[in-house]
Amino acid sequence: MLDEIARVQEDLEAEIAGAHTQESLEQIRIKFLGKKGRLTTLMRSLGGVPAEERPQVGQKLNKLKKRAEQLLAEKQEAIKSSAIAARWDAERIDVTLPGFPFAMGRRHPLQVVLLEIEEIFSSMGFKIAEGPDIEYDYYNFEALNIPREHPARDMQDSYYISSDILLRTHTSPVQIRTMEAMQGELPVRIIAPGKVYRRDDDVTHSPMFHQVEGLAVDKHISMADLKGTLLLFVREMFGGDREIRLRPSFFPFTEPSAEVDISCIICDGRGCRVCSETGWLEILGSGMVHPRVLEMSGYDPKEVTGYAFGMGVERIAMLKYGIDDIRLFYHNDLRMLEQY
Ligand code: PHE
Repeated sequence: MLDEIARVQEDLEAEIAGAHTQESLEQIRIKFLGKKGRLTTLMRSLGGVPAEERPQVGQKLNKLKKRAEQLLAEKQEAIKSSAIAARWDAERIDVTLPGFPFAMGRRHPLQVVLLEIEEIFSSMGFKIAEGPDIEYDYYNFEALNIPREHPARDMQDSYYISSDILLRTHTSPVQIRTMEAMQGELPVRIIAPGKVYRRDDDVTHSPMFHQVEGLAVDKHISMADLKGTLLLFVREMFGGDREIRLRPSFFPFTEPSAEVDISCIICDGRGCRVCSETGWLEILGSGMVHPRVLEMSGYDPKEVTGYAFGMGVERIAMLKYGIDDIRLFYHNDLRMLEQY
């Protein structure tokens, strides 16, 4: 009997040591401690043991049963924690590994300049207005005091969709649309950024380009307001020591009209190749809103005055960054675009 107990113990310990799953551990438990288990059977046969040996054998059996239960419980714990550890290993993320670098997008240089223009004028109280790229002849020309057959139309050779509809040649139609919408209310103070289209194509002209229109209408607005506003803009954009110069010009929708130059950013006004030795660079067209334009848009020119200006965004960006070919903006060459 004692030999049999020793054998059961030996087998039990070996089998538990060799078990690696909860299922095989359960099989072992049944095999030894189940109703017909080897240890259970031994305990049941205790009655057949001679009385004088019975206490000793009984004690051994009880000890073995306790040990079996303890070993099974310990093994169960061990299997459980090794399963968790295995899962940890499989799912582990090494937070110290370097990440995967990925290319960041960036703003297009024209967008950078446009946002800067918007910011400068917003800080002076201008609201941003928009109009459609596909425009009525009325807004693009007629309401700007450029009737059909007017020679001024030649300066803006256009893409027509029908005789009344075209791709807008400038952002000036937004002046009209804004004044119409405001129905005589004051003050009007907007800038209107957007795409414009002309039949032009060389190193400084593109058939599609960007403009920012400006319009201020109120009582007592004068040319001095126009000049002061533009001087402030130019100094914010190109540096605090820029000067501006207003040159008489002609636009049918402004009177008087002026072309605005800035002192050359390359030579500081001394004269160089970029400014054709003049010391000045033209950056925009402007003027006092023509009384007929105010009138057609529902404002009384005896009561109010206004100024307007229009600048080319590409032109500003080319001057600011020293870019000498407008087409570089549209070629999507990253070697160029990544510099801004
Ligand atoms: N619309 C004119 C152009 O594109 C510029 C301009 C705007 C001039 C506003 C005067 C006033 O050439």
